[in-house]
Amino acid sequence: MSASAGKIAVLDFGGQYTQLIARRVREMSVYSEIFSCTHPLAEILSAGYQGIILSGGPSSVYEDGAPLPPKELFDAGIPVLGICYGMQAMGYLLGGHVIPAERREYGKAEITLQGSSLLLRNVEPEESGRVTVWMSHGDTVLRPPKGFTALAKTQNCPVAAMADESRRLYAVQFHPEVLHTPQGRTVLDNFLTVCGVSRTWSMAGFIDTTIDTIRTQVGGQRVLCALSGGIDSSVVALLVHRAIGDQLTCVFVDNGLLRKGEAESVVHTFRDAFKMNLIHVDASRRFLDAIHGVTDPELKRKRIGAEFIAVFEDEAKKLGDIPWLAQGTLYPDVIESVSFRGPSATIKTHHNVGGLPLQMQFKLVEPLRELFKDEVRKLGELLGLPQEIVWRQPFPGPGLAIRVLGEVTPDRLDLLREADAVVQEEVRRAGFERTVWQAFAVLLPIRTVGVMGDFRTYAHVIALRAVMSQDAMTADWARLPYDLLGTISNRIINEVKGINRVVFDISSKPPSTIEWE
Ligand code: XMP
Repeated sequence: MSASAGKIAVLDFGGQYTQLIARRVREMSVYSEIFSCTHPLAEILSAGYQGIILSGGPSSVYEDGAPLPPKELFDAGIPVLGICYGMQAMGYLLGGHVIPAERREYGKAEITLQGSSLLLRNVEPEESGRVTVWMSHGDTVLRPPKGFTALAKTQNCPVAAMADESRRLYAVQFHPEVLHTPQGRTVLDNFLTVCGVSRTWSMAGFIDTTIDTIRTQVGGQRVLCALSGGIDSSVVALLVHRAIGDQLTCVFVDNGLLRKGEAESVVHTFRDAFKMNLIHVDASRRFLDAIHGVTDPELKRKRIGAEFIAVFEDEAKKLGDIPWLAQGTLYPDVIESVSFRGPSATIKTHHNVGGLPLQMQFKLVEPLRELFKDEVRKLGELLGLPQEIVWRQPFPGPGLAIRVLGEVTPDRLDLLREADAVVQEEVRRAGFERTVWQAFAVLLPIRTVGVMGDFRTYAHVIALRAVMSQDAMTADWARLPYDLLGTISNRIINEVKGINRVVFDISSKPPSTIEWE
């Protein structure tokens, strides 16, 4: 990203909404990048950022070792916007009076506007005469620092926004980046206007600059990519392939635990349609052997994770010296430390494409590090990825092994695969594929009695799991229409020999989990 294109730096003080800030800025067509609050300021200043946003964070400015930006930041002549903790840090460092609030404020609040400022231009009072915002703070700026004017207040917070227009320093106690602050976008937009950044960032532009970056990064060297067929690794593979073509080798470890038709679709898409160097490792036998007789869910996961590493290592060895590994790490995968060290980088530890052998010492290519899932989907669409991959629901690395409850055998996997194919087909047909977070079948480790024609059956049970969620951290069971449930149940029982009963899981997370194992 060249300096002239305009970009904003977000300093992360460990706040839960830091990524959202960066994302909102991108939504306004300005590139933004997140830095740990400990990142050397000089580097950020010399890299051509045209504005800096200080994120929220869990600390109190009075705590021992509280993370604070260097004071020089405010003399650098660059516009700064402090949000929540960022505001308290600004207030504290510049000599304002910051105190623990008498009453902590969490959630919806209403601010009363005072005075005028470029920051709050076009922010209009609602019917109540006040403006709805989202607050989440303990400390409060009681008196703004010298040179600042207070722009808004709430009952508990005498300075809910402040500005020193001449130095282009701004701060808000509330969170403009969350949707619960309906006019928050206007506030951020105003700040970008103050920064004078050009609004030229787009996903298409992102592709071009990322391709340039990858080329510069790896030069003529080879890159390895563990392709799982999920959206993240698929988009990474496509981006890297566009950048360096045949220098990229993708390894698709087929663990035999995938859904019906999935392995074929991955091979077809990447080898046949995109013409990539794709190595399809059929390791079903190895994985099945590794979990033979295992019924404990965690042990299944561990064995599968270890086998993935072993298979991947074997393949990599055959390929000779490849110094680079391309990974589909997204922002939410980057471990976000709630301490002031800010977000810290790590290799993905779950088993989709991660948990890769540390001793292999790869240098990493991670072009999606700053993006959210839905941004990656947009990117995938622009890169020509088929819709079925772009909209593929999350699928656990251990695959169907944790949906065949109890012992995993080829027969039981086949039963589940057939039943799950019905679920996928019907959910898609009914138009719920994109509205539910995940919908899938689980094979229970019990048998129940049924009757088919004149015969008594004693056969297996499928549980249908369908959930709504934003991020898989919490989830609610999806209220699928009865007719759809009926169709799925009828089809599974009629078409999948060995299943005579279907039940629907109506538990939420927490206290249940999305997967059954
Ligand atoms: P739970 O069952 O914990 O699942 O509510 C949350 C999300 O994570 C997925 N999941 C996994 N993904 N390796 C993965 O890569 C795993 O071992 C694993 N276990 C659960 C699950 O599908 C859901 O989206």
